[in-house]
Amino acid sequence: MKKKIAVLPGDGIGPEVMNQALKVLDKIQDIYDMEFEYKLALVGGAAWDEYQCHLPESTLNICRASDAILFGSVGGPVAEQNSERWRGVEVNSLLGLRKAFGLYANLRPAKLYPALAFASSLRQDISRKGFDILVVRELTGGIYFGQPKGRRGSGDDEQAFDTMAYSRREVRRIAKVAFEAARKRNKKVHSIDKANVLTTMVFWREVVEEVMKDYPDVEYIPMYVDNAAMQLTRNPGQFDVMLCGNMFGDILSDEAAALTGSLGMLPSASLAEGSFGMYEPGGGSAPDIAGQNIANPIAQILSSAMMLKYSFDMTEAAEKIEAAVEKTLNDGYRTGDICEEGKKSLTTEEMGAKIIENLSA
Ligand code: IPM
Ligand code: MG
Repeated sequence: MKKKIAVLPGDGIGPEVMNQALKVLDKIQDIYDMEFEYKLALVGGAAWDEYQCHLPESTLNICRASDAILFGSVGGPVAEQNSERWRGVEVNSLLGLRKAFGLYANLRPAKLYPALAFASSLRQDISRKGFDILVVRELTGGIYFGQPKGRRGSGDDEQAFDTMAYSRREVRRIAKVAFEAARKRNKKVHSIDKANVLTTMVFWREVVEEVMKDYPDVEYIPMYVDNAAMQLTRNPGQFDVMLCGNMFGDILSDEAAALTGSLGMLPSASLAEGSFGMYEPGGGSAPDIAGQNIANPIAQILSSAMMLKYSFDMTEAAEKIEAAVEKTLNDGYRTGDICEEGKKSLTTEEMGAKIIENLSA
């Protein structure tokens, strides 16, 4: 079996953490006697230098010819945000790829590793209980893409506007993803909406409740988004799958990530219909520590595990990687971002090497 992977390291720490993920995949090739073909492509600021464009056609073509996209991160230093090179880089790269490949289902796990509970933003009596949440976020619709959007008028009457819209088809297909995922987990779906105010969200709830009927084995709980934001900090353990529209999912997935205490740990998957998907770490490009060999490679490595699971149907290999990461953490190995004070931290490369060591064990 040969799988083609479009590798888009991007900017900042992207290339260094990507290197570690590719080494992990190399090891998986050996263990499972199979072949990955990596095709490197430019995205973000790295692409700008070559093409004056954040998502060049050549990159899109490489992605089109692949079975999955492994993505690093894009973006530059805050101080340079308004330069030509960086202006709009995240929207152009990420939203461009999401739209181009119909990546409508965004899976963002937020799991508290017991070994890292000290780093959580939660009070200890809450974090001690642990949590394992999967945010399922709709990614190609809602207010991000709704038309019309723009500006009109001038002076004090000038207005800016976006449109929040969802079709039955869009809500139904993302709801199915959430219920299917819950079936393989703890069989609970909280559907996050704002049905007390927004017409779009009344409709959202209506459609989710149609889908729910096909999953009598899964518990369904509708919850307003403001309440959900609060419940996440009070009692995150109550959640299993959180089903969200595009904007609410954007916000709540960051909140859930913060509760784990370690952005450098969280992978994500953005799936199209069928098996194609894009896999990327939850954190950003971290330009302040780029090139220093100190970034945490775990999110990128776990993203490649998600790729194995969702695009290549290699669940066993994916679980092997997850177990190797967990063992490495339990053995006390840390990169700087997740290191207890006074303890020694590993470099990016050393962390990658430890995980690979545990893979073959
Ligand atoms: C994310 C990011 C993106 C989003 C931005 C950078 C366009 O915040 O992936 O969550 O809002 O979707
Ligand atoms: Mg976000």
